[in-house]
Amino acid sequence: MKPPPFTRQAFTEDMITNRTPEAHAAVLAKFRSVDSKGIYTPPSQRGTMLFPGTDGGAEWGGAAYDAASGLLYVNSNEQPWIIRMVTQDTKSLYRNNCGGCHGDDLKGAPPTFPSLVDIGKRWSREQIAGIIREGTGRMPGFDYLERNINEIVEFLETGKDTGMTAEEAAQAAADPNHLKYRNEGYILFRDPDGYPPLTPPWGTLNAIDLNKGEIRWQIPFGEYPELVAKGMKDTGSDNYGGPVVTAGGLLFIGATSFDKKFRAYDKLTGKLLWETVLPAAGNATPSVYEIGGREYVVIVCGGGKNGAPSGSSIVAFALPK
Ligand code: HEC
Repeated sequence: MKPPPFTRQAFTEDMITNRTPEAHAAVLAKFRSVDSKGIYTPPSQRGTMLFPGTDGGAEWGGAAYDAASGLLYVNSNEQPWIIRMVTQDTKSLYRNNCGGCHGDDLKGAPPTFPSLVDIGKRWSREQIAGIIREGTGRMPGFDYLERNINEIVEFLETGKDTGMTAEEAAQAAADPNHLKYRNEGYILFRDPDGYPPLTPPWGTLNAIDLNKGEIRWQIPFGEYPELVAKGMKDTGSDNYGGPVVTAGGLLFIGATSFDKKFRAYDKLTGKLLWETVLPAAGNATPSVYEIGGREYVVIVCGGGKNGAPSGSSIVAFALPK
């Protein structure tokens, strides 16, 4: 098969983390409680290990292509997620309508799905009702819930869940769009200390030779600074945002969530030529431009993925004249 896969294709027991004996034992117990049979395993009520994950493998930042060398550059995550189907729960309006994204425990999967813990401290009842009715940003509106909106707001404010009346539950079950099962939430599987639960690499940068169908070079991509300080280097890490390749032979990429670095590599060998630390992770694809004969590269530093600190700056660098 060409090209070969650029990530591992299944999370198997021999890949369980050896970072510490405690982390290994905790991950092993969780691992054995769910199904991990590789890609195409359908979600189940036991729980299914999704690997290489809902956020890649290849990430939404996209790939870069260099026509001169025929190399395609793809950054990739090796992060397992757990997807579990649960029976629709007519006893709880919240779990039934909101739990699939915000989690049954209200904790969501920030920043994709925000936590609703203590939401009453941030928004008034009227504002929360407005968000449910009309939606906001990436959240759809639930105007069909109109007569239950106040009950859901009550639950978010006080934890008191009135659930559906028998009549409402019967109506919901008769609805042709009613699904018997729903997703419990998007759960990023971490070890008890918050690190990926498997052996490295936890993320890679790959150069794939499209003419030969081979991986020309592949390197671990990203690190955890506090693990590096303990001697655990080159682990790779979560990375979001893509690369850009220049005619001058450089591959620029930010993306790595925890070391917040912006790097330039030799496009042909993958040798690191330059790196700097950004104010927050550059979870974006950089852009290269020229003004008055001088070349620049710019990247948005938003951070905030999977527990990393967030930021709001745009940083541009000028290439030496
Ligand atoms: C399909 C997934 C999905 C479902 C279902 C969903 N939400 Fe959301 N919700 C989101 C997303 C995504 C955001 C963030 C919106 C953005 O900022 O783009 C959000 C934001 C919110 C916010 C604002 C959070 C903040 O910190 O400002 C509230 C409140 C909220 N949702 C309540 C609910 C309630 C109550 C329900 C059930 C009636 C619900 N949501 C169902 C995806 C969902």
